[in-house]
Amino acid sequence: MKPLNILVIHGPNLNLLGSREPEHYGRENLAGINQSLISLGDSLACSVTTFQSNHEGELVDRVHQAVGSADGIVINPAAYTHTSVALRDALLGCHIPFIEVHLSNVHSREAFRHRSLLVDVAVGVIAGFGPDSYTLALRGLCNFLRSRQGNHS
Ligand code: DQA
Repeated sequence: MKPLNILVIHGPNLNLLGSREPEHYGRENLAGINQSLISLGDSLACSVTTFQSNHEGELVDRVHQAVGSADGIVINPAAYTHTSVALRDALLGCHIPFIEVHLSNVHSREAFRHRSLLVDVAVGVIAGFGPDSYTLALRGLCNFLRSRQGNHS
């Protein structure tokens, strides 16, 4: 099986996971989520690289850097989901397939969280499963990429 390179991007305030609004985001911290993704990646023949930033431009730069190295992106754009034309344009311009992830079910929350500027250009979206949203997205993205290669796992 050809190894895949997956970039996992976490947007603003996700560095606070563990203590941030646990009623929405649970008690697991970002290091724990990243470790689970790296371990799952090992079992899926997937090399997982993680990145977090609170800054829109840094997220855009990281997407640009992924061209030529990442086969796919799992991204929790956090608040930038609802506002960032720049991130949408970066993902569109770089042609890297991506899955949008949310820990919480954004559709059961405030109306401003119901709109995503990324979802219509994503391969798919997973929301509401806490940290499992990321692992489900990683599995889904790997299967999607392998089926495109004609090498479904
Ligand atoms: C979030 C949902 C967003 O609306 C919010 O701004 C976040 C986290 C989630 O993972 O549920 O920061 O993306």
